[in-house]
Amino acid sequence: MSGTKIDGLTVSSLVRERVKKATEELKSQGIQPCLATVLIGDNPASATYVKNKQKACAEVGIKTKDHKLPSTTTQAEMNSLIDTLNQDKEVHGILVQLPLPPQCSEFETTSRISPLKDVDGLTPHNTGLLSMKKAMLKACTPSGIMELFEHYSIPLEGKNVTVINRSNLVGKPLIHMLLEKNATVTIAHSKTKNLANVCKNADIIITGVGDRTKFTLTPEMISDGTVVIDVATSRLDGKLIGDCDFEKIIQKASFASPVPGGVGPMTIAMLLKNTVTAASMSKLGRN
Ligand code: GUN
Repeated sequence: MSGTKIDGLTVSSLVRERVKKATEELKSQGIQPCLATVLIGDNPASATYVKNKQKACAEVGIKTKDHKLPSTTTQAEMNSLIDTLNQDKEVHGILVQLPLPPQCSEFETTSRISPLKDVDGLTPHNTGLLSMKKAMLKACTPSGIMELFEHYSIPLEGKNVTVINRSNLVGKPLIHMLLEKNATVTIAHSKTKNLANVCKNADIIITGVGDRTKFTLTPEMISDGTVVIDVATSRLDGKLIGDCDFEKIIQKASFASPVPGGVGPMTIAMLLKNTVTAASMSKLGRN
């Protein structure tokens, strides 16, 4: 038996179509949606991610403002740039690509972004709203995963969902998004005992470890018909890989997402969606 491949490229293109229409609508009202990207240092993976985000913006008519800072940038310089972008009426969304160099604090940096321009959904304000089901701007990768569940009509109510990731970008926001859909959520991590049992009991596994030397989700670890979402990205011999061997896991799973071509394109699509949402909020004169 072989399950259904979750095609993030197709689903993300549907989201991007919707964003393009919303962008045209905003432009007809005199609002040009605009995303400011901030890249610090010369991490090649981060540079590629930012370039891909800018290209995706251009394709749907969202303007971008590109800010590249040296790896020696201080927290004070970073704060000053964010203050400027917060004040800039032309800018609706601010994306500071993570990770940051060690002298900059991710908490201080993301907290400084205006919640109305927080297209990553990482500010304490927006993460708090998410926990109360009130957030307008939600973290992009988890939102993209929820969009995949919706598109493939994968039910969540009452399901056991195991998330193997506890980051601010993925695992923590997923807790609230999944709970809102009445799933039973288990967050697993490097100190979890009996991970194999936790995986066996799951109807849905969302895995995001990103280091095959530490963890691989194998078919033996899952039950027949499990839904597997692979959020991890790492490189092996220059090739992008996730936590699973897709061709093997799909033999046992009912649905599985590949890497690349699964969650990755959804993250970018949801960033575009958030940027248009932020631009729409600007109509209310709040940013
Ligand atoms: N680094 C890896 N993923 C992300 C993301 O979704 N947003 C930001 N800002 N940085 C990242």
